[in-house]
Amino acid sequence: SFGIDRTNSMGINLANDDQLRALAEQVNAAARSDWRAAPLVPGAKTIGPDIAVTNPADRRQTVGQWQAADSATVEKALQNAVAAHDAWNATPAASRAAILEHAADLLEQRMPQYLALCTREAGKSIPDGVAEVREAVDFLRYYAAQARKQFAIEPLPGPTGESNTLQLSGRGVFVCISPWNFPLAIFAGQIAAALAAGNSVIAKPAEQTNLIGYYAVKLLHEAGIPEAVLQFLPGDGATVGAALTKDPRIAGVAFTGSTDTARAINRALAARDAAIGVLIAETGGQNALIADSSSLPEQVVKDAIASAFTSAGQRCSAARVLFVQDDIADKVTHMLAGAMAELKVGDPGLLSTDVGPVIDEDALKMLVDHAARMDREATKIAEVALDADAGNGSFFAPRAYALKSLDQLHKEVFGPVLHVLRWKADQLDAVIDQINATGYGLTLGIHSRIDETIEKISARVKVGNCYVNRNQIGAVVGVQPFGGQNLSGTGPKAGGPHYLPRFATEKTITINT
Ligand code: NAD
Ligand code: ALA
Repeated sequence: SFGIDRTNSMGINLANDDQLRALAEQVNAAARSDWRAAPLVPGAKTIGPDIAVTNPADRRQTVGQWQAADSATVEKALQNAVAAHDAWNATPAASRAAILEHAADLLEQRMPQYLALCTREAGKSIPDGVAEVREAVDFLRYYAAQARKQFAIEPLPGPTGESNTLQLSGRGVFVCISPWNFPLAIFAGQIAAALAAGNSVIAKPAEQTNLIGYYAVKLLHEAGIPEAVLQFLPGDGATVGAALTKDPRIAGVAFTGSTDTARAINRALAARDAAIGVLIAETGGQNALIADSSSLPEQVVKDAIASAFTSAGQRCSAARVLFVQDDIADKVTHMLAGAMAELKVGDPGLLSTDVGPVIDEDALKMLVDHAARMDREATKIAEVALDADAGNGSFFAPRAYALKSLDQLHKEVFGPVLHVLRWKADQLDAVIDQINATGYGLTLGIHSRIDETIEKISARVKVGNCYVNRNQIGAVVGVQPFGGQNLSGTGPKAGGPHYLPRFATEKTITINT
């Protein structure tokens, strides 16, 4: 069985106004302007200049400061991690798991502080922030439970007079490189898995979300992870990230981010004069939602909006292309435009906000450029209105466009833009072929009430996560193990039973008794 005895984090009842208001007050009280992040590397001396962190929703607000690691700090972190590995690997898996479970309890108790960080540094809405903290808690508990189960010594059958056992063990130094869009959940998830498996860890957060990463690592230290076993190394991907991934002393990399960066890391690992490094990469997507004429237009629109615009579309799982069958296409696009007009874009700290800012000016520029091209080459279905003060932050108005062909999308558009294509009854196979031909394979939504259609699409489309008659975001740890195929990642799936063994080596011991 893939199941283990464990429950997901409780979270907050978002339908309960009193609970939500109380939480929002706690979050506002926890919001500060003096958060600070710096490398957490025992024995490192050099400290770089302060770099200001500003609020994506209002660039006039400084949220804190961070300092990047220099090359001497990177070197010290590698030395520390190598030296710390054996003792941590020799610590029983159950003891490692207990520390991670303690960290999960602390994080759950301190949700408002981490929620405030997620809102102010990453522009997360309150519901997104709650989900983020819960997912981080879930990862800590899930990998702890998996370590208890999978790292026990497994007796194997053998002839009389011989004992055979199999045991998993940490690989060595693992580098965890994470993106800004799940700055706590993915950051903590990678670290929890690598630590649970007995590796020492160097964690490099995304440049945009150093504060969240720093306070997550501080919490893990407080819970009992030794400081040399888990080190925090903020800095640019091209310098700090690249220096780590080309180093012969590392055993592997857990990476989540763009497909191009995963390729660069793969090349760096392969070029080393060292043991063959492991790469666990979770990357981008060009995710589709297929709706046939038997589906309910209201439900298609509701789920398309949730899938495309939640988190301002900055989810790798987000729907980018809605393939809607001709017979219901007019109705769906009409309803889509009407529903989008109700979306409220604005301050993610307000409970009334549906769509917050995008992460930074680079992301905004990419979206503005894409929209300019779509305005020329496609037909606009809807564009959500922005408030007058949106110019103070990195806000992009959600849009939907009718395309003529999928070829009009050249790469993943990481933001709140939904593209719509129509198909005729005899074109379902062609739609599936087009989706597979993108090369990506992360999520797929299917809306249909015909079992044969659902079975056919889910069997033929090469994706990691298929969602039927619901939205296609928000995979739950241990419930919907998450991760894609082909250009979308190497596997194994995060929050699934096969993830932890990838961070480990296997040893068989045969004793002639
Ligand atoms: P990114 O690839 O630009 O950066 C991700 C991380 O890699 C950052 O920490 C960055 O500093 C680091 N990095 C950059 N260049 C590097 C190099 N040469 N060597 C080592 N490290 C380097 O991605 P992003 O913009 O931060 O994140 C958005 C992307 O992440 C999207 O493509 C999205 O689809 C993907 N994503 C995928 C998943 C998934 O589970 N499949 C989840 C979340 C995000
Ligand atoms: N795990 C995240 C989701 O499912 C990426 O939306």
